Amino acid sequence: MNQKYFYRDLKIGILGGGQLGRMLLQAAIDLNLNIHILDPDSHAPCSALTRNFQVGSLTDYDTVYRFGEDLDLITIEIENVNVDALEALEKEGKTICPKPAVIRMIQDKCTQKQWFSQHKIPSAPYTITHTREEVVKQVNRFPLVQKLGKGGYDGRGVHILRTIGDLAKAFDEPSVLEECVEIEKEIAVLAARNAKGEVSVFPTVEMVFHPTANLVEYLFSPSDISQETEKEVVKIATDIVNKLDYTGLIAVEMFLDKNGRILVNELAPRPHNSGHHTIRSTATSQYEQHLRAILNLPLGSTQLLHPAAMLNLLGAEGYSGSVIYEGVEKALAIEGVFPHFYGKSITKPFRKMGHVTILEDNKQKLIEKVKSVQNILKVIS
Ligand SMILES: Nc1ncnc2c1ncn2[C@@H]1O[C@H](COP(=O)(O)OP(=O)(O)O)[C@@H](O)[C@H]1O
Ligand SMILES: [Mg+2]
Repeated sequence: MNQKYFYRDLKIGILGGGQLGRMLLQAAIDLNLNIHILDPDSHAPCSALTRNFQVGSLTDYDTVYRFGEDLDLITIEIENVNVDALEALEKEGKTICPKPAVIRMIQDKCTQKQWFSQHKIPSAPYTITHTREEVVKQVNRFPLVQKLGKGGYDGRGVHILRTIGDLAKAFDEPSVLEECVEIEKEIAVLAARNAKGEVSVFPTVEMVFHPTANLVEYLFSPSDISQETEKEVVKIATDIVNKLDYTGLIAVEMFLDKNGRILVNELAPRPHNSGHHTIRSTATSQYEQHLRAILNLPLGSTQLLHPAAMLNLLGAEGYSGSVIYEGVEKALAIEGVFPHFYGKSITKPFRKMGHVTILEDNKQKLIEKVKSVQNILKVIS
């Protein structure tokens, strides 16, 4: 490798050009990396930011294969990609991070749960069902949470079955049917691992969900958990990346339940919504850490520099069309408020249009500022 220009000769591809790709690109500029992006949407958040932006399906074998043929290293910002094509590229000697087999296992919530059980990762007890008929047989164990094996995202593809009446909405496809956890807190932890086996874990974040949309409304870090729990969380995340022989950054979503159990909910094999704040709050952002990890470079410090919150800017209900951000100036007048707009021209209800990072050392004030920004800043049309 020609070190004179650092990694400029290495062609790096990202499958997906959404907001996560955009923030990866932002970090890649600092390292002067040579990034190529594939996304089906010609107006995707990355589209106007690089000449190396290709429009094409992420799930089509030929499109992904042809995109990868000319590259050296390929990574993802979304897991719904054609893994067969990535496997073929891997066989030809391309480096794929994370490994295609890992992406395949995580793509399907059924195989993901099975992996947890096989590898003694604590998670809620479950069964796998293939048809509605099989769900009907479990009715005496209700309430249960049913999750579609494939194709769900942001809470779509997940529902709680409480009564016989709910059976009508039960999925008639391969699904995970799991114990309904009495959730005390939902937390997430980001971990990175490079090919040398070096592991680094970010401070945990606590997620607060939108009451109806099943989306993270805001989160804050560090989370309100004991040092003992934090230690255990770090141990579990480290165990996961080592057992996966993982390369890159991964998000581990967890539940702390009312009985003090730590249960892994699900994995996201890429930078994650729960790590946007790291751009400003930790020494190394999740995006830079992902790039360091896939390049097998030393991982950066994950020391927390500022307690932070991250508020998702979701399209307001009742508005669809050309986006207008209302209240930006007023929000910017609050100390420690840093907005981030994703460059999506069209808003619709609950679409992720941007986020705001809020830095504030005092926890109570931090949450107050979140509420203020939430009231001031609106995504309308
Ligand atoms: N076993 C469970 N018990 C209680 N609530 C759950 C359970 N599994 C998921 N949920 C709730 O549903 C949300 C979405 O589920 P998740 O599996 O994370 O799917 P998604 O892929 O949509 O993020 C979780 O963040 C949590 O609030
Ligand atoms: Mg989730």
